[in-house]
Amino acid sequence: MTWHVNILTLFPDMFPGCLGQSLSGKALEKGIWSFKTVNIRDFGEGVHKSVDDTPYGGGAGMVMRADVIEKALLSLDAPGSRKIYLSPRGKPLTQKLAQELSETPEITLLCGRYEGVDQRLLDAHDLEEISIGDYVLSGGEPAALILMDACIRLLPGVLGNMETPVEESFTENRLEYPHYTRPAKWTAADGKTWEVPAVLQSGDHAKIKAWRAEQSENITKARRPDLLTTEATEKKKRNTEY
Ligand code: ADE
Repeated sequence: MTWHVNILTLFPDMFPGCLGQSLSGKALEKGIWSFKTVNIRDFGEGVHKSVDDTPYGGGAGMVMRADVIEKALLSLDAPGSRKIYLSPRGKPLTQKLAQELSETPEITLLCGRYEGVDQRLLDAHDLEEISIGDYVLSGGEPAALILMDACIRLLPGVLGNMETPVEESFTENRLEYPHYTRPAKWTAADGKTWEVPAVLQSGDHAKIKAWRAEQSENITKARRPDLLTTEATEKKKRNTEY
């Protein structure tokens, strides 16, 4: 089955962009995923094909019109699709959410520009708002590409090694342990010599597993203690659910 993404945008040429390369590009060629862009401009008003207007109540910037975006949305005729508006106000995109979206056969992404979209459009069509992080982009398109990338690599047949998604960062609310490859002893340009940790060269798989788990734990504690809190909260929730 093909994972399908509809994209409502003023800049259709931004797609597939970076997703046309590498693993996601090959997966696109193979039909593991597909996309369709809708140019919001095609549904604009008047001779100038206007898609935005000044905000009620005053203030800076322009707001994308509900009537214009609705026409673009309805042109898709995709009633079963999960509708998402990329916005810094949305719920955070997490690995868990990416997994869930990659298991949803069809999603529709609305990319905003300017100050945003008329709230009535979001309410009337029940759009889910998703943010890719606590910073503001100039438009939703790069956020859509990031969301899609996070989902595409989880689709069956995209990654060569099916083991990979299990061990990587965030899967178990932990950051990943460090990786090393040959040469075992490496002298950097400044003359300092660096060695691969001895345990990884020991061949003792139980020890290696324990070392990696400890590294993951320490890196997570130091860099992202919030992930450990998240896990504690999730566990508590699971224990009180039945
Ligand atoms: N559009 C602008 N900024 C964004 C963000 N941080 N996440 C998602 N969409 C956005």
